[in-house]
Amino acid sequence: MARRKKIYEGKAKILYEGPEPGTIVQYFKDDATAFNNKKKATLEGKGVLNNRISEFVMVNLGRMGVPTHFIRRLNMREQLCREVEIIPVEVICRNVAAGSICQRLGIEEGEPLPRSIVEFCYKNDALGDPLVAEEHVTAFSWATTQELDDIISLTLRINDFLSGMFAAVGIRLVDFKLEFGRLYEGDMVRTVLADEISPDSCRLWDIETNEKLDKDRFRRDLGNVTEAYAEVARRLGIMRETQ
Ligand code: C5P
Repeated sequence: MARRKKIYEGKAKILYEGPEPGTIVQYFKDDATAFNNKKKATLEGKGVLNNRISEFVMVNLGRMGVPTHFIRRLNMREQLCREVEIIPVEVICRNVAAGSICQRLGIEEGEPLPRSIVEFCYKNDALGDPLVAEEHVTAFSWATTQELDDIISLTLRINDFLSGMFAAVGIRLVDFKLEFGRLYEGDMVRTVLADEISPDSCRLWDIETNEKLDKDRFRRDLGNVTEAYAEVARRLGIMRETQ
């Protein structure tokens, strides 16, 4: 494929200009980072797996009416997406206590939460993506009140759908992170799901054993990281193939 102009390079992905105006290409790298870039590694094959898993999730969310930036997968590591203006807020949805909520509130890992909780973090690497309230999101105009309403209702719909999808293959969706963007279509602006949904951005536990099948394997040096991602792909019925 012809070399494209790089728009942005993140920790796990590179964005290139797409072939048509209003499109971008997302390239999935094998790089893994954690703890705000303090821990780094290259995990061979991770990008290929995340590209396939995120494609599968985005296509299925699209089928149930969730608007996404995803157009189609181009090859092993790249997918074609609509260009959006990213809303600078990471949206985290939690079903079971794990990670930062345990440290923040002194809850035991694995404790089911009384109900699903949606949290917001301000996307800012220098500040370490701090947790913020809905008030901050609208007061600083990171999103309008309407956009925030749309984001919350889409997040809860996505949680319902993904929880069921993963439960059907013996996986508990503990928590996950979403990013949304503004899609400009003429005079219209729509809020759409952007970025990726993969074991890098979700906590996924085996329903029977609680074995971690996600990036916590890397964060906590549990080993067999890509093997766990491949297990998620296998259970979802995503075959490993060369194209
Ligand atoms: O670290 P924390 O417990 O807040 O993470 C909640 C969820 O959001 C986890 O599934 C984690 O993988 C994801 N996350 C992410 N990117 C971040 C922060 C969290 O994908 N920058």
